[in-house]
This record gives sequence, structure tokens and C-alpha cells, in this order.
Amino acid sequence: HLHPSDIQQMERGSVVRRSDCRAKGGAPGFKVAILGAAGGIGQSLSLLLKMNPLVSVLHLYDVVNSPGVTADISHMDTTAVVRGFLGQPQLDSALTGMDLVIIPAGVPRKPGMSRDDLFNINAGIVKTLCEGITRCCPHAVVNLISNPVNSTVPIAAEVFKKAGTFDPKKLLGVTKLDVVRANTFVAEVLGIDPREVEVPVVGGHAGVTILPLLSQVKPPCSFTSEEIHYLTDRIQNGGTEVVEAKAGAGSATLSMAFAAAKFADACLRGLRGDAGIVECAFVASQVTELPFFASKVRLGRGGAEEILPLGLLNEYERAGLEKAKKELSESIKKGVTFITK
Ligand code: NAD
Ligand code: LMR
Repeated sequence: HLHPSDIQQMERGSVVRRSDCRAKGGAPGFKVAILGAAGGIGQSLSLLLKMNPLVSVLHLYDVVNSPGVTADISHMDTTAVVRGFLGQPQLDSALTGMDLVIIPAGVPRKPGMSRDDLFNINAGIVKTLCEGITRCCPHAVVNLISNPVNSTVPIAAEVFKKAGTFDPKKLLGVTKLDVVRANTFVAEVLGIDPREVEVPVVGGHAGVTILPLLSQVKPPCSFTSEEIHYLTDRIQNGGTEVVEAKAGAGSATLSMAFAAAKFADACLRGLRGDAGIVECAFVASQVTELPFFASKVRLGRGGAEEILPLGLLNEYERAGLEKAKKELSESIKKGVTFITK
């Protein structure tokens, strides 16, 4: 029997139970922290990760409301042990010992705003959280969701470099929602099951930097030029479509949580040593002349172990790539300068 003070200690996260390090059935389990867990993305993502059998410990951190979200999620009868952490003084406890840190903290867009308009608030939030990572779990894989991703990933990299802990394979900007959307819209056009469709989306995560490679869709297919224009435009503006439909109440949260949960699962399967795990992500890269670029990466025990080449692009995609690189270059510089200035 547990004494009430033991239970209080457990809720504060200071008692480590024997089951913490093992998923059910003795399989290895991973420790995952979500920073911004009480937000629109954070809550649904917490729910989905509590359902993931690869997760043995789930730390939910936010500056507001994390105790309520934690109490709620912790009643789900799945194996992951859930602990809540509230406010900056508890950031280090939330991060200590984590294998994977997922960051959906920060403000979302309202109609009329660009993702770059979020820079002034979110840059500082990402900096603070990444400083915590350098102190408490410098070897963790980081999935960065906070916008503008094209700048927040370079910010995170500079924070890690400053601390001497930067491992380019471990820092992944999450662009999976662009792939999820692309698969959905392409499947609609083709009249097939979206689960059978794979669309590589490269570049970055904002407007023209989102570059779907429709010439590389699996299963192999061809589109009319009208379809290509429609699909490219819809994929590039999918985020804005949701922001406008939500009319001031935020941006994509549910589809984002779904995409982030799939992406996190792929990272965890990679960490476990599964072979052939390939996802698109915004990473430190030599695929172009830019220091960061989203492309297919192979996930393994070390994180993004291999950055895959872009493959053959058609003329339309090559023109799109030039436009994407121009905007990306500015966004990357802005992120780097925020830390190095
Ligand atoms: P939200 O406002 O609903 O939630 C954000 C949460 O972050 C809140 O609970 C807030 O308290 C928390 N937070 C703020 N400052 C914090 C700090 N210093 N430490 C920890 N937590 C903090 O917003 P949302 O809809 O969940 O979106 C979150 C972010 O994700 C936004 O920047 C949004 O633009 C971005 N986003 C990215 C993608 C993508 O594809 N990468 C998709 C959708 C949204
Ligand atoms: C998205 O693509 O839905 C996110 O980046 C949120 C946004 O601001 O559009």
C-alpha cells in the first residue's frame, strides 16, 4: 500500500517506479517529454503518446494548466507513466533523462498573420526550452513544432552549439503535417485511400518553402498541369486554410497532433533500431547550399542518420525549389542572428 505522501511525491515526479524503464511485455520503452503540453496541439499529442506502447514515461510540461491535463491523461489504462510539470522552475525536472523531447510551445497564428509574425514571441520561448535541453538531456532527439519552424530550428541549433551539445542528427523540425496534408489532397484527386499515398514534401514549413514533389508520388501516377497547380497551392496554404476556418481561435491542432504523433513514433522506432524508417523533416543538411533544409531522412538509433537526396525534379519543381531557397535563406539567417547577435 502507498502512503498518501508517497502518492504526493509520485505526482510531483520524485518517485521513480520500477515500471518506468520498461514498456509492457519487457520491451524497451522510451522517456518522452512534451513542452507546451497543455496547448491545442499539446493536449491531443499527449493523448496520442499515452496510447503509444513504445512510450514508458511521459512528461507533460507547460507554463499553465499542466496539472489538469496530467491528471486527466494519467487515468488512461495504457502503460506509460505520466508526470506533470508546471512553470519554469520545474523545466529541468521535466527534461532530465528524456530520450525524445517534443516542442509544441508557443503562440499560434490568427487570420492575416504569417508564421514569421510569430517570431518575436516564439523565438524566446524556443531558446529558453532548448537551454533546458542542453542542461538536462543533451543527447535527446528533439522534435520542434513551434513556428516559424524555418527559423526556430536554426535558433535551437545555435543554442545547442553555444552549449557545445549540438548533434545535427538529433534536431528535427516537424514538417510531417505538410506530408499528411499532401497525402490527403493527392488521394482525393486520385480517388484512392490516403493511407496508400506517399508524397515527399521538401524545403521548409511556410508558404512557398513548402515544396511537394508531385513527380515522385507513390504509387506512381501523373497529374494534369491544372491538378499540379491546384495541389501545390492547397498543400502550401493548408495551414492558412485552417487558420481562416478557425477565424481567430488558432491554427491546426488536431491534424498537427496526429502528424506529430506519427512522426514521434517513427523517431522512437528508429531509436529502437528498426530498419527502413524514412520521414521528411527540416534538418541540418547538405542537400542544397543552405545549412537547413527539409527532405527525406532515414531515422535510426542516432536520430536522422542519413539525409536522402532530393531525387529527380521536373522543371516546375526546380523553379519552386529556387523560390523556396530564397525565402528559406532569410528565415534561417533570422533565426541564427537571434542567438549570435
Ligand atoms: P496553443 O496556444 O494552443 O498552445 C501553446 C501552448 O504553449 C500553451 O499551452 C502555452 O501555455 C504553452 N507555452 C507558452 N509559452 C511556453 C513556455 N515558455 N514553455 C512551455 N510552454 C509554453 O498553440 P498550438 O495551437 O498548440 O500551437 C503551438 C505552436 O505550434 C504554434 O507556434 C504554432 O504555430 C505551431 N504549429 C506548428 C505546426 C507545424 O507543422 N510545425 C502545425 C501547427 C502549429
Ligand atoms: C500549419 O501548417 O498548420 C501550422 O504551421 C500552423 C499555421 O500557422 O499554419
